[in-house]
Amino acid sequence: MSLLEFVDFPPLGDERGSLVALESDKTVPFPIKRVYYIFGTQPGVSRGFHAHKKLKQVAVCVTGKCKMVLDNGKQREETWLDSPTKGLVIDNMTWREMHDFSEDCVLLVLASEHYSEEDYIRSYDDFIRQVTE
Ligand code: TYD
Repeated sequence: MSLLEFVDFPPLGDERGSLVALESDKTVPFPIKRVYYIFGTQPGVSRGFHAHKKLKQVAVCVTGKCKMVLDNGKQREETWLDSPTKGLVIDNMTWREMHDFSEDCVLLVLASEHYSEEDYIRSYDDFIRQVTE
C-alpha cells in the first residue's frame, strides 16, 4: 500500500478565477487546530527531517512546488506537491522531508494539534527504533 494519501480540493472556479475551501472533517480528514505556511525557502535548502508522535497534517503547495518525501520505516516514497488543489495527508509516525522548493513556493500545512516540541521525533534513528519496536 502506498504511503501517499492525497486529498483533492475541488476548485470552486468561475470566470473570475479559482477558490479552494478547506474544512475540518470534510476536505481535511481531522479537526484543524493549527495552520502554518512555509515560504521564502532559500535555494538548496531542505526542511522537515522529523516525524510526529501524534500530529496528523495535510500539506498543499498553494503556489509553486516542492518535493515531499515520506517514510514509515518500511517504505520511502516521494511526490511533487505542485498544485493548489492537491493535498497530501501526512499521518503520525511518518518521517517527512521537503526538498527542491521553487523560489515562489508557499507550502500550507493544516495540523491536527497545537504546536508541541514534545511531539517531535527529530532523530531518524530514534524514529526507526520507535516504529519497529
Ligand atoms: P520545524 O517544524 O522544525 O520546521 P520544518 O520541519 O519545516 O523544517 O519548525 C521550525 C521552527 O519553527 C522550530 O523552531 C519550531 C517553530 N515552530 C513553531 O513555533 N510553531 C509551529 O507551528 C511550527 C510548525 C514550528
